[in-house]
Amino acid sequence: SGYITLDSGFMNTGSCCSSITFLDGEEGILSYRGYGIEDLAENCTFVEVAYLLDHGNLPTREELSKFSQMLGKYAMVHEDMIRFFDGYPPNSPPMAILSSMVNSLCSFYPEMLDNPLENIDKMAARLLSKVRTIAAFSYKKSMGQPLVYPRHDLSYCANFLNMMFDSPVKPYEINDTVVKALNKLLILHGDHEQNCSTATVRVAGSARVNLYASISAGINALWGPLHGGANQAVMEMLTQIHEEGGNYKQFIAKAKDPADPFRLVGFGHRVYKTHDPRARIIKKACDDVLTALNISDPLLDIAKELEEVALKDEYFIARNLYPNVDFYSGIIYRAIGIPTNMFTVMFALGRLPGWIAHWKEMWDDPDWRISRPRQVYVGPKRRPFVPLAERT
Ligand code: CMC
Repeated sequence: SGYITLDSGFMNTGSCCSSITFLDGEEGILSYRGYGIEDLAENCTFVEVAYLLDHGNLPTREELSKFSQMLGKYAMVHEDMIRFFDGYPPNSPPMAILSSMVNSLCSFYPEMLDNPLENIDKMAARLLSKVRTIAAFSYKKSMGQPLVYPRHDLSYCANFLNMMFDSPVKPYEINDTVVKALNKLLILHGDHEQNCSTATVRVAGSARVNLYASISAGINALWGPLHGGANQAVMEMLTQIHEEGGNYKQFIAKAKDPADPFRLVGFGHRVYKTHDPRARIIKKACDDVLTALNISDPLLDIAKELEEVALKDEYFIARNLYPNVDFYSGIIYRAIGIPTNMFTVMFALGRLPGWIAHWKEMWDDPDWRISRPRQVYVGPKRRPFVPLAERT
């Protein structure tokens, strides 16, 4: 009954008050808990930023050391969960494996689910640490290589890279450049207010479902090519352009054609109507990392040229379409050896602290209510029932 406001895609509907992330899409400003994303990406580790997002303040040395110890303590996954990997067919989408394994955490670690707010730090550490291990193990399984277990002496990102790439024939020696690049990428994905996956985590959690199940729902939303799946789609698009001779202008023309559903992946954003500040930082990091690793990637050249031409094009100007966070991130991931089908898993790893912070904020909100949007019914009017025997 009453008046219902339709807002398809929630273009202009606020669902909550939040003190986690500030985003100004007109000016291209993004901050976590009041700290500019540029400062955090330049000066912090991902673990510090995860602490900031989930606690509201940057950690002191002592807090950081305690948090890091917890991450070390929870790094293993239950051995029975490792058997899950054997049940999936080869070439299973890594996001399908990740979301089901995260959901399964509630069966393996049920003891804290009844008092989530009292145990949130432990649950957060468990998620941050185990998702990293699950991601690396699923890669090792896909390669047919033995699993490399987490180590206590390595930092969060170095530990991940070691679990991914340690083998008798390593693709490269893990070094500072690679560790810093990974920290930066994860920090830049840390939170982004009410994006599709975070909104999903909140909506699922609003029914009072546990943290692991809510985050599993978020992982599935992130999987979509219009959301986190875009980083993989960008790399596939750039590869296709390269393989077809580098004619990126043809792809721009396709994206502009109203009769063609094709979109230039990695371009456009619901909220940013100017440069995405994350994309600016990642573009620069691309140059730095590739130079430091002495890699020259033709896909980076194509991406830069494509960006330059698109930004001068009337179609993109009129619609305020700029490169987003996904446009350049894949080039760094590729340079550090992460396979394309794992890019969205990397996004999930980075977004975890944001999802956790939002779930906690929602759970603790005195104005919390179950999320239950309304609709405008446009189906048939009430009609007489026809028994099966009389239906024609
Ligand atoms: N290429 C070509 N045209 C586009 C693109 C694009 N990438 N993005 C938007 N447009 C056009 C769209 O066709 C529409 O044109 P018109 O007004 O003539 O119909 C206009 O721009 C507005 O688009 P919209 O679909 O109404 O915008 P939205 O806010 O609903 O969608 C978006 C935002 C990100 C889903 C969209 O820009 C898109 O599909 N981009 C490509 C996928 C992508 O890169 N996603 C990653 C987003 S950022 C990180 C994340 O969320 O994970």
